[in-house]
Amino acid sequence: MKPTRENWSSRIGIIMAVSGSAIGLGNFLRFPTQVVENGGGAFMIPYFTAFLLLGIPLSFAEWTLGRYGGQYGYGSTPGVFHLISGKQWAKYLGIFGLFVPLVISFYYLLIESWCLAYAFFSIMGMYRSISNTADLKDFLQEFQNLVPPEQLPNFPWQLVFFFITFFVNYWIVSRGISAGIEKLSRFGMPILFLLALVLLVRVFTLPAHPNAPDQTVMNGLGFLWNPDFSKLSDVNVWLAAAGQIFFTLSVGMGAILAYSSYLKKEDDVAHSALSAASTNEFAEVILGASIMIPATFVFLGAIGAAEVVKSGSFNLGFVIMPMIFNQLPLGNFIGFTWFALLFLAGITSSVSLIQPILTFLQDEIGLNRKKAILIVGSITLVVSFTLKRTLALGTLDQFDFWGGTFLPVVSGFIMVIMFGWVFGAKEGWEELNRASKIQVPKLFVLIIQYITPLYLGIMLFLWIKKNIPTIVMDDIVDLQVWKATLIARGGLIVLGIILVILIYIAGKNYTPKTKQHKG
Ligand code: PHE
Repeated sequence: MKPTRENWSSRIGIIMAVSGSAIGLGNFLRFPTQVVENGGGAFMIPYFTAFLLLGIPLSFAEWTLGRYGGQYGYGSTPGVFHLISGKQWAKYLGIFGLFVPLVISFYYLLIESWCLAYAFFSIMGMYRSISNTADLKDFLQEFQNLVPPEQLPNFPWQLVFFFITFFVNYWIVSRGISAGIEKLSRFGMPILFLLALVLLVRVFTLPAHPNAPDQTVMNGLGFLWNPDFSKLSDVNVWLAAAGQIFFTLSVGMGAILAYSSYLKKEDDVAHSALSAASTNEFAEVILGASIMIPATFVFLGAIGAAEVVKSGSFNLGFVIMPMIFNQLPLGNFIGFTWFALLFLAGITSSVSLIQPILTFLQDEIGLNRKKAILIVGSITLVVSFTLKRTLALGTLDQFDFWGGTFLPVVSGFIMVIMFGWVFGAKEGWEELNRASKIQVPKLFVLIIQYITPLYLGIMLFLWIKKNIPTIVMDDIVDLQVWKATLIARGGLIVLGIILVILIYIAGKNYTPKTKQHKG
């Protein structure tokens, strides 16, 4: 008999937690640049297509599988896949539901700690006196230790804020589902929206640039949304949209499944899933899109903004935004608001990346929470630290390429097949609607069984085709980078092997399906 598992203490609590997982750096940094680069308003066509045909169905599937698995004491993809199939081999297909969130967490924590550091730098006015972009870039590179040793900052800020971020994250998950994650979300999410609102008001009241009356906020929004429909014939735009949907909704990779496994049998899933997904879309399409790009446009105009967007969302968030704040009254405060927003959005996401592996180690390997945290925490420290040290060699990008871009789609594909074909689309639909506040139309059965897997299959094929040079490392010229890339991949494979062994061990405790008793 499995020990009784924890539960969420309220419906709003889990909705906030899943929204918190979804609303992250992806909403405020990644989304706006994707829109500008992929056809402006026209990007909304592939984006909402992916939302409706991939995001929502997958989110329904994951919430449903999670609540179902939780009733039998399973909250991770290996356990749930075994449970619904009754086959021992199926558990190995669940590996991505542990691997993907863990790998993302390694670098997500690092970036999150930069947000916290910059929130501190802003309020202390530490970059206030720097007036040009080049010097702000130097400031960032010094902070990231991407400079020769003699130019390193006197104080290791990066390290300090990394440890703080790490400890806060692990402290929260160590308190458990309702006293840790639920509390963080109930407290953090309203503040997050408040911070976003403050920034929104600030951006919308920006006057036109004194030397360029055309550079207004309204024109900035036009710059962002002005549709370029010719882009719709470019498959890369469709790929970008599908990738953004996966990343922003946190779907298909085991994070939501772990969360929803702590639901009670009679808790709603269909309505909660929709609420969390729509909250994320509001935070992304309305809030995320209305801060960074319009502000950049007012200060740099169309040509300048287009150029910095190409230089990456990172440069925009950590160099261009500080430059803009420095020209505003109360710049310290506005800068603080921006980076605090990013940090808060980050932390409510990173705890959801850490939870799946903890759930697995506790439920299926039988470790207590303390031990699970100690093990995962130590591994995370070592890996994140290595990524930090080898930043210039592109190791973080490797982790993002495999863990944050490719494997989530593979993971989602497996999940949708498990749900639609193994659990059964019709049974799944009934389970989804059970105890629900809304009835999902039966059309869902057709979509989840045929359309979503087909759509995902095509996206996977196109993605691999497009990325062959990167996969075979043909696009790397620097030998150092080449070696580091290989080592990073080796590390990912080792992690994969460890997980396979753990899943094998966990499998010994799995009881055949017929002998399962509802807990
Ligand atoms: N959704 C988060 C974001 O937008 C990232 C994330 C992905 C979180 C997967 C959890 C799981 O930043």
